[in-house]
Amino acid sequence: MVRAGTENRFSALRLQEGRAIGMNYRHIKVNPDIGPTGAEVSGIDLSGALHAETVAELRHAWLEHGVLFFREQALSPAAQAAFGACFGELDVYPFMQSLASHPNVIPIIKEPDAKLNFGGGWHTDTSYLEYPPMATLLYAVEVPEEGGDTLFADAAAACADLSDGMRRTLESLTGIYSPKIVHGRGGAYAGMAAKSQLGSAYGGEAEVAESEVEHPLIRTHPETGRKSIYCSKYHTHRIKGWTREESLPIFDFLMTHLTEEQYVTRFRWGPGSLAMWDNRRLFHYALNDYQGQRRHMHRVIVRGDRPH
Ligand code: SIN
Repeated sequence: MVRAGTENRFSALRLQEGRAIGMNYRHIKVNPDIGPTGAEVSGIDLSGALHAETVAELRHAWLEHGVLFFREQALSPAAQAAFGACFGELDVYPFMQSLASHPNVIPIIKEPDAKLNFGGGWHTDTSYLEYPPMATLLYAVEVPEEGGDTLFADAAAACADLSDGMRRTLESLTGIYSPKIVHGRGGAYAGMAAKSQLGSAYGGEAEVAESEVEHPLIRTHPETGRKSIYCSKYHTHRIKGWTREESLPIFDFLMTHLTEEQYVTRFRWGPGSLAMWDNRRLFHYALNDYQGQRRHMHRVIVRGDRPH
């Protein structure tokens, strides 16, 4: 039985030529008939130690489908973090305080009177960091009776459907990614207003909030070799050598394209649901349509490599 340290052992489990090698799952049930992207996994209890073969199957399914959904799990913060650590080294989100009891778990709470929600725009997680997380594991502690769903878009499928000319042009460009659009001075989450609006304890160094890093607009998945649209108007300040005003129409075009319905799966949370998504391939969007109700999630991230 293993918990952590499986990353290296199973990194050999690759996809060939960008296509999944067919796999007969022995330890889990995988149902991809839930929408254009993602799969629902059943027949597994994530709260205890997992066999190495089970972790290998989960990793394979995750690479194949981009996001895995589990239902009716009972996960303490420690158990959620331990499950995340099966897939790599856990990381820390720079703009929200983690649980006092667990440094790698951040609570994401929207109180009934809060207006803003966390993640309410299409993005991949913290793509403005030098090493953005490869995986995010979001666990539902308390969900609204209605609303609060999350949308997931397959940016690899959307990238494959671009014209050769557009894709080649985008591949030749570099993005200047920065948290300042959202977290910097004047950003949607800046300052005390955001603290009380979001409900969760909000923080982060001003210096980090204004930082910039270069990443490609289109990235190549380090495990599958597939290319994905990576830039977004919330995390990519501009195309290198262009102004923000010049860059925005490109970002808007890509967002409109990758959020067409043939790429998007909508996930309805229940108490105990867990979603684990691949930030190297998927965009997501937390819907903010449950005013007056409470939503309480726990979020864990797994460190990724530098996008190429
Ligand atoms: C996030 O963007 O990480 C949060 C998504 C959600 O709360 O549904």
